[in-house]
Amino acid sequence: MKTAITEMFGIEHPIIQGGMHYVGFAELAGAVSSAGGLGIITGLTQRTPELLAKEIARCRDITDKPFGVNLTFLPTFSAPPYPEYIAAIAEGGVRIVETAGRSPEQYMPALKAGGIKVIHKCTSVRHSLKAEQIGCDAVSVDGFECGGHPGEDDVPNWILLPRAAEELKIPFLASGGMANGRSLVAALAMGADGINMGTRFMATVEAPIHDNVKQALVNASELDTRLIMRPLRNTERVMINAGVERLLEKERTLGSALTFADIAPEVAGVYPKVMVDGEMDVGGWSCGMVAGLIHDIPTVKELIDRTMAEAEQLIRGRLDKMIAA
Ligand SMILES: Cc1cc2nc3c(=O)[nH]c(=O)nc-3n(C[C@H](O)[C@H](O)[C@H](O)COP(=O)(O)O)c2cc1C
Repeated sequence: MKTAITEMFGIEHPIIQGGMHYVGFAELAGAVSSAGGLGIITGLTQRTPELLAKEIARCRDITDKPFGVNLTFLPTFSAPPYPEYIAAIAEGGVRIVETAGRSPEQYMPALKAGGIKVIHKCTSVRHSLKAEQIGCDAVSVDGFECGGHPGEDDVPNWILLPRAAEELKIPFLASGGMANGRSLVAALAMGADGINMGTRFMATVEAPIHDNVKQALVNASELDTRLIMRPLRNTERVMINAGVERLLEKERTLGSALTFADIAPEVAGVYPKVMVDGEMDVGGWSCGMVAGLIHDIPTVKELIDRTMAEAEQLIRGRLDKMIAA
């Protein structure tokens, strides 16, 4: 399939694997890129720019296809050394960066000087337009159903994507709730030029995370996510578990007095415990409603190939016939 996104990034299929903390290591990014999609290493999971440089080198050993790095701009007090991370990306020969969290405006000159194409992931039309205005090459439009941070506007993709299509001139990806050929065809119909998948890629053979997490995704339904940290205006969609229930109880009882310190036990340092040790009840880890559409743990190549085959079958075998009738 050829779209503005496949052309822009030199990939075979319009399928991108979004950055995922403690999931987006070289094994997954390399597998996605080798299968013809675009894999993304999660920059900040690597604690230093030096470690990111090593991860990039590891990914290059796995695939000779293009891959990218995610840079998430966090609302933290002590900012990570972003210029050094960008230098590691550029020196590692990576030419695609997915930014998220806040506007990458401040870092655009450095990214562009490195010959890097920027996909900014955001959750509203106004932020997408801002990204276009500051020179981003594409945007990933993340709807309310997405795993991770859906923002505070709560607009689902059924509205958000066609609104983005009305306003944007640069190509965009549909992100949030994407799982299969149906998702891809619907996204293309909504005006997107490809899809960005997070949660779905966790339940694959190559995702370097504990089997308990993959099994939890297979067992979960679309009713099993919760929104946490809403009172702090840092909303995150996570998989329900005992730790998340505890956190939500604190949110209910403390109300507007809630501070980050109150919920730190259920959100700080949770990722390694879940993804590495498979402890499923420790607290919040990002997960999309798309869990309801995850029923198996294929290889990345099986997932991508079948998504493309389903999409083609839907377009040729279903949609085209409706027109021809
Ligand atoms: C476990 C997990 C961790 C994530 N970590 C990040 C992150 O560090 N930075 C980021 O920009 N997005 C992160 N995301 C969001 C994904 O890149 C992607 O936008 C989102 O998962 C899309 O929605 P979906 O899960 O419905 O496919 C994460 C998502 C998941 C599921």
